[in-house]
Amino acid sequence: MSVNVEWKVGDERRGGVVAEGTYIWDAAKRLGVRLPAECEGRGECDTCAVVVEEGATLLSGLTQAERTRLSPERLAAGERLACQAKVERGGDLVLRPVPATERAETTDEAAKDLREEFRRMSLRKKFAALAGMEADMAYETLLRVADIPFAVFGKGLDLLASRGRRLSQAEREVQRPSEHRASPTDDKGPGEQPG
Ligand code: FES
Repeated sequence: MSVNVEWKVGDERRGGVVAEGTYIWDAAKRLGVRLPAECEGRGECDTCAVVVEEGATLLSGLTQAERTRLSPERLAAGERLACQAKVERGGDLVLRPVPATERAETTDEAAKDLREEFRRMSLRKKFAALAGMEADMAYETLLRVADIPFAVFGKGLDLLASRGRRLSQAEREVQRPSEHRASPTDDKGPGEQPG
């Protein structure tokens, strides 16, 4: 028996027919609905969560992964994980993806947020953020976060990172208890010691 599926994606409606035994995840792909899948269908995240508005009884029972990943409130609201729930009986199914604001962020979404946050930072904060990272991580972060081509940035990063290190050292120094701060004479060489 066939299953009539309707997807509600924002104001859009997408309908089609899928066979019994189809996972919601595949029903989405078949009808051109893109669901994120951070754990690639292993039931280890909740990014593929959908709300079943009609036809919940057509679906397979809850898996352990769904009980673990979805709170009782979310389950009560009709949420299922698309990679875990299978259509077992024919009928009408109405589904909608859970908005990004109501589920965990995917890595790409988090990187996008970070990118926006980085853009809003003052130059001083950008330096300090970079200085706190290992060199490899700083390169990777810049590529992902700052949208700066590697070739353009190249060696300049070292310069920025060392400037950032100096800034963050200065900031740490200011935050220390006054008796732990380096005295102005600490860095003087032997010839400069007061006599
Ligand atoms: S893709 Fe992660 S739980 Fe479905």
